[in-house]
Amino acid sequence: MNSIFFKVITYGTSDYEASVALRQEVLRTPLGLVFSPEELEKEAHHIHLVGFSDNKLIATASLVPEQSACKMRQVAVHSCMQGQGIGSKLVDFCESYAIEKGYQSIHCHAREYAVPFYTKKGYVPEGEYFMEVNIPHLHMRKVLSTL
Ligand SMILES: CC(C)(COP(=O)(O)OP(=O)(O)OC[C@H]1O[C@@H](n2cnc3c(N)ncnc32)[C@H](O)[C@@H]1OP(=O)(O)O)[C@@H](O)C(=O)NCCC(=O)NCCS
Repeated sequence: MNSIFFKVITYGTSDYEASVALRQEVLRTPLGLVFSPEELEKEAHHIHLVGFSDNKLIATASLVPEQSACKMRQVAVHSCMQGQGIGSKLVDFCESYAIEKGYQSIHCHAREYAVPFYTKKGYVPEGEYFMEVNIPHLHMRKVLSTL
């Protein structure tokens, strides 16, 4: 596998548009859904973190700043690149960013089939499964350590 590098990108740039395209392909199209303009407008206030390989954007996630925590959402790795440790490194990058900014925990709504992935990354379920975008999700959280 070629080396991957991660960075924070700016809302509205061509990198951001590429991240939306990747999320549409990996997260929405399989469910028969599309992003609405209203949904994407809200993302102006989110932090967008992405991974590149060979100058191609192949992984993406967003963080929604809250008070002492932030919410991680829209975690996606290009379908040809899944299962190679990239999602794990992307989550590590999100966590490092959140620690640097002083957040004490990260939480997410994990799709049922991705729950084992988040469990391996140290995320713990909170509550019961619920429906979102027509599929079961579990609220999961990881307390961040600065040690
Ligand atoms: C879920 C996703 C982000 C994981 O990224 P990835 O690059 O494929 O995962 P990694 O290769 O980094 O896997 C890290 C570990 O989690 C495990 N894992 C990853 N996805 C898993 C799954 N769906 N079920 C069980 N285990 C999984 C891997 O086997 C690996 O285990 P190991 O450390 O023991 O080898 C990616 O597969 C993806 O984009 N899936 C489609 C979109 C999606 O479901 N996003 C999450 C929405 S909540």
